[in-house]
Amino acid sequence: MPTDSLPPTHLIAGAAAGPTLEGAGSRAQTVLVFDSGLGGLTVLAEVMRARPDARIVYAADDAAFPYGRLSEQELVARVLTVMGRLIALHAPDIVVIACNTASTLVLPHLRAQFTLPFVGTVPAIKPAAIASRTRHISILATPGTVERDYTRDLIKAYADDCLVTLVGSANLAALAEAELAGSPAPDADILAEVEACFVTTPIGRTDTIVLGCTHYPLIRHRIERVAPWPVAYIDPAPAIARRVVQLLGGPLIGHEPDGHVHGTALFTGRTHVPVELARALAARGLPTIVHEPMPLATAAAA
Ligand code: DGL
Repeated sequence: MPTDSLPPTHLIAGAAAGPTLEGAGSRAQTVLVFDSGLGGLTVLAEVMRARPDARIVYAADDAAFPYGRLSEQELVARVLTVMGRLIALHAPDIVVIACNTASTLVLPHLRAQFTLPFVGTVPAIKPAAIASRTRHISILATPGTVERDYTRDLIKAYADDCLVTLVGSANLAALAEAELAGSPAPDADILAEVEACFVTTPIGRTDTIVLGCTHYPLIRHRIERVAPWPVAYIDPAPAIARRVVQLLGGPLIGHEPDGHVHGTALFTGRTHVPVELARALAARGLPTIVHEPMPLATAAAA
């Protein structure tokens, strides 16, 4: 076992070993927040703020990370399979797909297959177009998301009068994961992934960037540090939390927050969690870590 990993006792095999919320009776609602990796933590924070009483399961399908490299067919099959398993294990009241790469493709399939409500995360192009004064906006996302018809349709619908630059980053999500696990990438590597977002034309320059992957707000401070000039960064997480409250309702009356959130982080791939990452998860309200193996090939073929 690597010295930077937690001993196996910190990994509880099987979701049945997940926590029971202190003081939560049968009325506790379960919110399942789902991403390919750690990016959904940026959405989770807003959801927890909006519903501090909910039982939270954060599921990272890291066995298939990064989703940005999967074909559309592979991604649909993967997410449907994994979601079926997670729903059977955790019986959520609502699922938040905290992943643009998945949401821009898989949401209709999920809604057709399962009856519970799904809230998706898609690039915040409308608010970016509203905010931009120079009418130069950039969308920074995974290669999958920038290719999607869904993304192109959003641009046509809401940003037709803007110069829109689509930047598909192959590595930024992985760099964000590394940062959270205590291995920050050099500035030059971050800059290489984002510099194409900064565009100058004779009539102006980019003033607004859509963070179209939930991983990117995790390293927003790093992006800001290397940015050639300051811009506004648009992150859809607060809007997603509002949608959760619309569908699920606000916190239960009588809920007394005890100041501690007791969510569970579930990983489909990794079996050891570096201490740095375990600390980061606990600080984000996920003190319990569960390994629920779902190898990519097996799950996709199932
Ligand atoms: N966090 C995911 C998103 O919002 C993508 C990362 C990946 O490629 O898996 O698109």
